[in-house]
Amino acid sequence: MLTPEDFLASRGFTTAAETDRSALISAFMSEMEKGLRGEKSSLMMIPAFVGVGGRIPAGATAAVLDAGGTNFRGGIVSIPPAVSEKRNQPMPGTDSEVGEEDFYAAFAGEVKRLLPKASVKKIGWCFSYPAEATPSLDAKLVRWTKNIKAPAIVGEYVGEELLKRLGGGEIAVVNDTVATLLAAKASEGDKRYSSYIGFILGTGTNAAYVEKIANIPKLRGAKEEDGPDSMIINAESGGFDKIATSDFDKAADAKTGNPGLNIFEKLIAGAYLGQIGLETFKAAAKTGLFSAAASRQISGMGSLETMDLDNFCASFVKPGRENPLDAAFKDQADAQVAKRLAIPVFERAAVLTAVHLAAFVIKSGGGTDSSEPVAINADGSTYYKTRCIPFSETVERELRSMLAPRNIHFEIVPRIDDAPMVGAGIAAMLRR
Ligand code: BGC
Repeated sequence: MLTPEDFLASRGFTTAAETDRSALISAFMSEMEKGLRGEKSSLMMIPAFVGVGGRIPAGATAAVLDAGGTNFRGGIVSIPPAVSEKRNQPMPGTDSEVGEEDFYAAFAGEVKRLLPKASVKKIGWCFSYPAEATPSLDAKLVRWTKNIKAPAIVGEYVGEELLKRLGGGEIAVVNDTVATLLAAKASEGDKRYSSYIGFILGTGTNAAYVEKIANIPKLRGAKEEDGPDSMIINAESGGFDKIATSDFDKAADAKTGNPGLNIFEKLIAGAYLGQIGLETFKAAAKTGLFSAAASRQISGMGSLETMDLDNFCASFVKPGRENPLDAAFKDQADAQVAKRLAIPVFERAAVLTAVHLAAFVIKSGGGTDSSEPVAINADGSTYYKTRCIPFSETVERELRSMLAPRNIHFEIVPRIDDAPMVGAGIAAMLRR
């Protein structure tokens, strides 16, 4: 009989062990170069018009909005990094489609609550979607990711539109990876780093790094915004598409709000891993890998959350949460097959995460001296909360094995609470 591993291979699934790390790093770097030159590339490589050289005024506090994946949060950021007055709400457009006015009204309401409590007038907005940044730190939404349903906002300068609804003001809109990078810089204390990477792996994924302006040909003629000679680049790395996908990845992709796009994100981020697992189970059921009872239950399921797939694989029963997989795979033999099919999805995600971080560390040009490593600030639920494999440890081990032979040094910095909010606050406070 076909083993779960044979079955995965027969459907084009490349396991962690089979992943050609060097080839993927090269492919990532080539896409980065093309994106920086303004050529067709799956990586947008968006210049953020903010760098790591700015000054943060002592004692400043800023009102901050954080539009992330499933949640939208507001708060007041102070330095040393801390967030107070936090409030969490569902992100508009997550559950059902939202129109333009309702979309901005949600954010305007938070600004009205927070702005009187801030010392700087500028609002910080962490906006975690692919958006072209402007030199004045506004952001034009290119398209939604993470299945957000708010089509009227696509193509708009979200900062300008929000300010219109507030009757004026000032705003700095930054991507969450840019914000996370800024938060790492602000938290470094006495440490010395040669460069910085902001990385998110939650509902979606993406990375930002610091690039020399001379290496951004598409910015030729632009003013140097970051004192000396560099600027943060929001790579929109989830868009990378020079990678083979399995039948299950393709089936899961077809059911998303943006089929054919953000291929890399869909292989590693929380919005999608559950669905890949379910597609794998459905195909395995058709092939006869499960009992008749389990196959029936699985074929009746329409969607699966990553949290449930992860908890099931970790044999973890979350109090108060019914896991549909516990019901489907009551039989021990079924459960074992299911885990052998699904754990490789998480293992592959960890290795691909490391591959992609390695490409950014190398591209940063830093870390050649062990006393000044490249700082990686990682944030996001998938990175920190995956249970069924030691995710962050696997990423770190893999990264070391990819970078040590190149004599490149990095450090994954201690987790900074609310890094995206903190960084958005810094973007609002920065004197450039
Ligand atoms: C978005 C990025 C964001 C990332 C992590 C992706 O879906 O396109 O802009 O940085 O998710 O939140």
